[in-house]
Amino acid sequence: MRELFRMDRQNYNPDGNVYRRPSARAIILKDGKVLLNHVAKYDCYEFPGGGIEAGETPEAAMQREVAEETGRIVIPESIREFGIVLRRQQDSKDPDGIFEQENYYYLCEVTDETVPRKPDEHEIVEGAEPVWVESLSTPIHRNRRAFQKIGEPFMQREMRVMDLADEELRRQSWERTEDAAIRALGTADYKGMLAFVKQTLEDAQTEGKSGIGMHKLEFGYTRYEHTKRVLGWAKRLYDATPDKTGLRYEDLMIATIFHDVGRGAAEQTGADHAKAGVPITKDWLQAHGYDAERTEYIAGLVGSHSDKWRMQGPEIDRNLLMLMEADLLDDMGLLGIVMDTLIVRARKEDATFYDCCNHYERYTHPMQHDSPMVTPEGKALWDQKTESTDWFVEEYRRDILLGGEHYIGYR
Ligand SMILES: [Fe+2]
Ligand SMILES: [Fe+2]
Repeated sequence: MRELFRMDRQNYNPDGNVYRRPSARAIILKDGKVLLNHVAKYDCYEFPGGGIEAGETPEAAMQREVAEETGRIVIPESIREFGIVLRRQQDSKDPDGIFEQENYYYLCEVTDETVPRKPDEHEIVEGAEPVWVESLSTPIHRNRRAFQKIGEPFMQREMRVMDLADEELRRQSWERTEDAAIRALGTADYKGMLAFVKQTLEDAQTEGKSGIGMHKLEFGYTRYEHTKRVLGWAKRLYDATPDKTGLRYEDLMIATIFHDVGRGAAEQTGADHAKAGVPITKDWLQAHGYDAERTEYIAGLVGSHSDKWRMQGPEIDRNLLMLMEADLLDDMGLLGIVMDTLIVRARKEDATFYDCCNHYERYTHPMQHDSPMVTPEGKALWDQKTESTDWFVEEYRRDILLGGEHYIGYR
């Protein structure tokens, strides 16, 4: 197994006796979520796992620990090696000895069934509880804080492994989105639609139209990248929604791919870009053998996706609502702040940090706090974003005030 990193305190006699206490841990990924243990005592997180018993393989130990701590059964075929973290330090009992710990990490999935948990005394005292998290950013943040306060090496180790696992999670997230879309639409149609939308948007951009012209921004923000991210958001929302009554995943995917295809055409004629996307969507679907009812329905979703005022209405179609929520989730949060920074700069060449701060507080912050989300799933994702922008704006303001200049605030 590859070595992820080493935590070597080099505070031991290199010739001393070596005491080994290897452990095995599980990075459990399911539907874009990760199963962790939350340790209430320190408000930190760790991957399920623990010590390898005599005669046990690391894999077997990992499976046993997962069942005991989380009540979940690891699917044996899903187990993949992730890496080893090696810890070396002076042994706590033998000052002349070396404590050496190999921590084996595995990626794996679990079944839907649950078995009774068997937490040990230590876990009960510390208040360890299994919890599914949507992203590792909060656990990483919490562990960093806990490590700064308490200094337990396991917090740092887990934090660093989470950082690495997060990359894997992000990579898988787009793969999962694509896999689902391909299953829903077939490879040819899926690839064909994306290529068509990309080409249509690019043609518009080369002619100086589309979103770029709108904000006089030339930093490579393309509607195509936005489209793919919205596809990812729609997938996350869909997965997170327990009651799928009335949801038409295939149609939702198609509408999402086409939703901004009218950008270029709209800027040429001054029309609404959503409405401009309707005939383009219809043409493509008809040419590819989609029946009239579906074509009408999907084009309808594209044509209405800008009417965000309809979101709060009781009669709104669930697929339209999901498309709108996914669309809005992409433009906000930290990405929205960076976008605003670029807009500030595009409008004012000598823009300063103060100008940016002003802009965040005047526009970004109030917009972020006036959540347009309707579904509980959308609200949860939005709130996560708000947490990060709140934190960012607070810290940002604090940092620029350090310079001692009077900060004007709202203007
Ligand atoms: Fe749009
Ligand atoms: Fe959009």
